[in-house]
Amino acid sequence: MERRNTTQEYPHPFVYELKLTTAQRIRGVVLGIVLFPIRVTLAALLFFIMGLIARLRLAGLSSEERLKPARGWRRWFPQHAVRLLSRGVFLALGFLRVKIKGRQAGVAEAPVLAVAPHSGFLDMLVLPCTNLATVVSRSENTSLPVIGALLEFNQAVLVSRKDPESRKKCVSQITERLTSNGYWPQMLMFPEGTTTNGRALIKFKPGAFLAGVPVQPVLLHYPNKLDTVRWTWKGTSWLQCLWHTTSQFYINTTIEFLPVYTPSLEEKENPNLYADNVQKLMAKALGIPSTNYVMEGRFPVKHVGGLSLPLESPAKETLKLLHHASLSTSEVHTVLSRMIDSCQTDQEKIISVNQLQQWLELSDKETAAKICSLFSKDDTVDLRLICLSVSAVSGLCSVEELLATAFRLYDSDGDGILTAVELAGLMGALVGRPQFNTSQIYSELTSRGQANKEMLLSLLTEEPTYQELVTEYLQPEGAGHEASSHPTADGKDGNHNGTMQNGNMVANKKED
Ligand SMILES: *[C@@H]1O[C@H](CO)[C@@H](O)[C@H](O)[C@H]1NC(C)=O
Ligand SMILES: *[C@@H]1O[C@H](CO)[C@@H](O)[C@H](O)[C@H]1NC(C)=O
Ligand SMILES: *[C@@H]1O[C@H](CO)[C@@H](O)[C@H](O)[C@H]1NC(C)=O
Ligand SMILES: *[C@@H]1O[C@H](CO)[C@@H](O)[C@H](O)[C@H]1NC(C)=O
Repeated sequence: MERRNTTQEYPHPFVYELKLTTAQRIRGVVLGIVLFPIRVTLAALLFFIMGLIARLRLAGLSSEERLKPARGWRRWFPQHAVRLLSRGVFLALGFLRVKIKGRQAGVAEAPVLAVAPHSGFLDMLVLPCTNLATVVSRSENTSLPVIGALLEFNQAVLVSRKDPESRKKCVSQITERLTSNGYWPQMLMFPEGTTTNGRALIKFKPGAFLAGVPVQPVLLHYPNKLDTVRWTWKGTSWLQCLWHTTSQFYINTTIEFLPVYTPSLEEKENPNLYADNVQKLMAKALGIPSTNYVMEGRFPVKHVGGLSLPLESPAKETLKLLHHASLSTSEVHTVLSRMIDSCQTDQEKIISVNQLQQWLELSDKETAAKICSLFSKDDTVDLRLICLSVSAVSGLCSVEELLATAFRLYDSDGDGILTAVELAGLMGALVGRPQFNTSQIYSELTSRGQANKEMLLSLLTEEPTYQELVTEYLQPEGAGHEASSHPTADGKDGNHNGTMQNGNMVANKKED
């Protein structure tokens, strides 16, 4: 693995790989063998004791009383004990130096702390340093040992992934707590909602900003020679993260409380604007860019004109897997053409992994399953998503021909004009991710005339907003040559194994 300028190294903020020199690796192994078992055992011991004490807060209370903030001894005794113990857990793990800059505002001044950037699970260190502010967590976590006890102790706001009603309930609960004038303790949120490599701030979720109350932005960083604390979507695993962190002599942490941000009238009415402005302010303080990148389901995307464009193109990944499985470019083209033909008939378009394997004439099911997982979260996939998006990047046809095919697959009444729903399906198939917000592009189309093929082609190729969509998703890698010397195409997508050169991927095609 090569070591290079770090800004070139990562295609987007959702990947992080700790790179060590040989000397650092040897030092890590020697220290880790000694320190890891001692530190983890000690931390685990403190953690369990903390879990027992945490239960005291609500023990013996009725379910009704549990819905109110703890008072009296139930508040102060477990609060002090858990704070000391949780600081102890992190001391044991090596977080010896925590530098506090600025001053934490009281709950009356700022009912919520917005902490960024979110680096990994060890960020929980910020809790004992903020007097254990209330967090928001998944309700599934309450069944975890110790963590469940701590969430109960924290009287955390719980939200369930599965239950759509629970989202609404969570929002109203957060609002109630943030506007309770100090009846409820201060809250703490990581508005990015997921962890990153810290090279950019991703889009803030509106949760902390919904109530329109002042927030205190808090920067959390780890100014160390080695950045071991990160644990992101792809790259270093949580165990490696824990190993490398505990095998340092100590870890530096800086918690920087910025001045309380009081929203304007406009920001109060528009939580998204409020969130964006706080994001920009924090990015500026950190000296990194603020982006509109978000994690949508399991996939990182960027928002462009309401569209969700995948940061790692599933079509390009598919091509790579197919070439890896020894399909030549012409074989891929043959398979795609057959898929397209089938999609134009009345045949079932949602297919299983087994059917996909047959379609792609793959000898192993594993590759088919991998391809399926690039497009879908279960083991069925819409064949149109695969054949259109892969055709686009494989050089099977020009953008014009691609749109003609896409219209044949999505314009159900065949009159050449798309409805709003059909356009959403079509755009999703072109980029390989389902689209949920195509109202802007639909109204742009209809304002130019009809939502037909010619209009869509001219919108996509002429409108600057969509030009990167064309070069990155609707053309093969090489075809974007002139475009990829453009700075915006630099390092935005593709794989992240260090083959990126000036934004061009080193081609990995097997041309037979
Ligand atoms: C809850 O569980 C999710 C994964 O299911 C995890 O990402 C998150 O950090 C957990 N939260 C807490 C507070 O432990
Ligand atoms: C911690 O920060 C100090 C400066 O405050 C620096 O000299 C030291 O090298 C840092 N430690 C590590 C492990 O990076
Ligand atoms: C949909 O996209 C438009 C245009 O980018 C944006 O203003 C709007 O907030 C988006 N709506 C949702 C629900 O994401
Ligand atoms: C990195 O990508 C290149 C080109 O896409 C490929 O040939 C190579 O096998 C990949 N290496 C790793 C370690 O994934």
